[in-house]
Amino acid sequence: MADPAIDEMLRVLEQERARGLELIGAASSHEELERAEVAVLGRKSPLASVQRGLGALADENRRRVGQRTNEVRETLRSAVAERRSTLDRSADDRLLEADALDVTLSGRRPRPGSLHPLTIVQREIADIFMRLGYQVLDGPEVEDEWHNFDALNIPQDHPARTMMDTTFVDVPGHPELLLRTHTSPMQIRTMQAGPPPIYVVVPGRVYRNEQITAKNMPVFHQVEGLAIDEGISFADLKGTLEAFYRELLGPERQIRLTPSFFPFVEPGAQVEVSCFVCGGGGCRTCGFTGWIETMGAGMVHPRVLEAVGYDAERWTGFAFGGGYDRLAMIRFGIPDIRILWENDIRFLEQFEASG
Ligand code: DAH
Repeated sequence: MADPAIDEMLRVLEQERARGLELIGAASSHEELERAEVAVLGRKSPLASVQRGLGALADENRRRVGQRTNEVRETLRSAVAERRSTLDRSADDRLLEADALDVTLSGRRPRPGSLHPLTIVQREIADIFMRLGYQVLDGPEVEDEWHNFDALNIPQDHPARTMMDTTFVDVPGHPELLLRTHTSPMQIRTMQAGPPPIYVVVPGRVYRNEQITAKNMPVFHQVEGLAIDEGISFADLKGTLEAFYRELLGPERQIRLTPSFFPFVEPGAQVEVSCFVCGGGGCRTCGFTGWIETMGAGMVHPRVLEAVGYDAERWTGFAFGGGYDRLAMIRFGIPDIRILWENDIRFLEQFEASG
């Protein structure tokens, strides 16, 4: 049974559905969306007046039109919700866009550091001895008199104590502390740590109370070597040092041992290497002698072995020790030792990159 009033209501609902979807879809801001929502779902909307008219309808029509009304309202509500979240998202996008950093520039690279010339030389020395089967150790720079002197057979009144211009460290209750004047106390510490065989080298800083000049600093670097085993001879010492200097300074290098005195070795020797600047012919670097003094060495004195409780009848060994600041200076053509301490970046960055 056709009822024009019902048809009209259904037509309005269909029209409102279409109009509503269009309005909601066209809203490009939250304000526009709110206006559209009020217009199609609000109290004064055509949809609301259809709803109000439902009460006057007969049961069957009311159900029919009411159901349709609910469908249209739900469709429009979910369209509003969907549109709202789309608008939220694009607001977020706009914010991100406005906040974005332009990372398309080429950028600046951090400058890689470079190794200090002393580090380069120290690592080379350590590498060579490691290949010869030696262990590389580090020792304390604050020492006590016993390790630095007494155990090395340098008694209280020995001239070596004053010759070394010792810097004492003022720690109450520890009157015997000092800055090590050489790396030799590590001979003692290594032997105290365990029984032979021992094959070690120890690079590090040493301190002597000296005037600062182009050639001297109160802090400089030495490397100590110690080999203790059964049947070690002076020939082993010479062969080891020769192998070492040929690796470090070139296969043509010669070494020369001349008698010298150090209280902790007997016999003791001064070690010289043929000049690696002129090849031995004589130049300014070697003082026109063809030889460069590099270290002291010798066979470990029995008293030193006894000081650490080793059986001097069974074990023999050799020791050597000397500075490598001068080697680094000659090698890199550095005219003044103070440059090694200035840490001027223009100087440092000329050396090989760290790694
Ligand atoms: N320690 C000595 C110094 O600083 C150098 C030295 C000489 C070390 C002879 C030794 C050695 O191991 O056997 O002057």
